[in-house]
Amino acid sequence: MNIGIIGAGKVGGTLGRAFTKAGHAVVYGVRAPSEPAPELRHERATVVSVRDAVTGADLVVLSTPWPATEGALAAAGDFGAKVLVDVTNPIGPGFRLTHGHTDSGAEQVARWAKNAIVVKAFNVTGAENMGNPVYGAHRVAAFVCSDDKQASARVAGLGAEIGFDVTEVGALEKARLLEPVAMLWIHMAMVLGKGRGMAFGVLRREGLE
Ligand SMILES: NC(=O)c1ccc[n+]([C@@H]2O[C@H](COP(=O)([O-])OP(=O)(O)OC[C@H]3O[C@@H](n4cnc5c(N)ncnc54)[C@H](OP(=O)(O)O)[C@@H]3O)[C@@H](O)[C@H]2O)c1
Repeated sequence: MNIGIIGAGKVGGTLGRAFTKAGHAVVYGVRAPSEPAPELRHERATVVSVRDAVTGADLVVLSTPWPATEGALAAAGDFGAKVLVDVTNPIGPGFRLTHGHTDSGAEQVARWAKNAIVVKAFNVTGAENMGNPVYGAHRVAAFVCSDDKQASARVAGLGAEIGFDVTEVGALEKARLLEPVAMLWIHMAMVLGKGRGMAFGVLRREGLE
């Protein structure tokens, strides 16, 4: 599949490489396509404008800094009922979530993005873990939610392809739970100094309801 990426920085570039390793093609949508960052020049990758990335993609990933997200989505135009995978975290002044409890960044993205099927995914871990989600016998947890069950399953499949242990957690409003989990990861990794080589996992025991 052709995967568009809006926000081709640490997260976008890392996911882009992971998707191409899994056999997909990526189309990075950037503000200055004539001067692509060197790390975006890799196999099965092209660099175009944000709007063209949406047009040329089967599914689009959103990984912009939160303050740039509304503008990037306006530049993207009509998504034509394509799946938009929201990996952003709505972090504002004071390094605090701008949305929570009764709303989420993902729901805000769904209001901003014209004609997109929004799926929240992959936001609870660091970019390095997105490129290498394997910790010995364990895999990094990724959580996926969307109001569209088919879209959720599709993105869960994509996450599994790049090595995540994926759990679908329900409707898009469950992003209200996932975005604070990202803040916990950031707090542990960056503030408490546990480092970015750390990830959340899901343990399972059979036989308990
Ligand atoms: N870093 C992580 O470990 C991590 C983990 C999970 C989730 N997230 C979330 O993922 C998002 C991206 O984080 P990041 O660390 O990857 O940020 P980053 O490295 O700063 O990359 C952001 C990218 O977005 C691009 N961009 C900015 N404004 C744009 C616009 N209007 N249109 C198109 N592209 C635009 C930037 O391009 P220019 O070069 O043109 O500015 C840059 O390539 C954030 O919401 C963050 O909270 C990050």
